[in-house]
Amino acid sequence: MMRLFVALALPDSVAEGLVLLQNGVPGARWSTREQLHLTLRFIGEVDGRDAQAIDDALASIRSPRFTLELKGVGEFGSRNPRALWAGVRDGTAVEHLQRKVESAVQRVGIAPEERRFSPHITLARLKGAPRDRIITFLASHALYASEPFAVNGFILYSSRLSANGSLYRAEHAYRLE
Ligand code: 2AM
Repeated sequence: MMRLFVALALPDSVAEGLVLLQNGVPGARWSTREQLHLTLRFIGEVDGRDAQAIDDALASIRSPRFTLELKGVGEFGSRNPRALWAGVRDGTAVEHLQRKVESAVQRVGIAPEERRFSPHITLARLKGAPRDRIITFLASHALYASEPFAVNGFILYSSRLSANGSLYRAEHAYRLE
């Protein structure tokens, strides 16, 4: 069995810009450079046969390249924040690709995603972080924006738990047209 998800990788310059945001919140477990990505579809545990079928379905996706810009920061879990994230400026193109990935994955027989897609890059997971520091973090980086960058493909990652958190490995990359 392997734990899979589909995501966009980030160029080094953009990831380095995100890493610069990662401080000032005690109790935050910041994503490492290697962990920073934009999830298109979390799949979860599958066997080798399903993994192969998912790979085939993803390889058949025809979707255009696009430009993406990251913009702003936010939190999930308002009353009891559990994550800090960076958002995107205009989600139209990434949502288009996400719908194609969703239908490819469903064709293979994976159950539909029930949560609404909300494009973001997880910067940190939180446990008991002081509220005022979270508020300060959000206010300090409200104007964060990346340079525009080209999205020429997407990636099927596997995820494995290690002592230092999740280890992600790119299993396969797919090109956009
Ligand atoms: P998150 O960063 O917003 O938590 C790999 O685990 C990626 O899949 C993470 O980026 C995570 O998004 C996303 N994901 C979505 N649903 C998930 C789930 N039920 N369990 C673990 N990860 C999930």
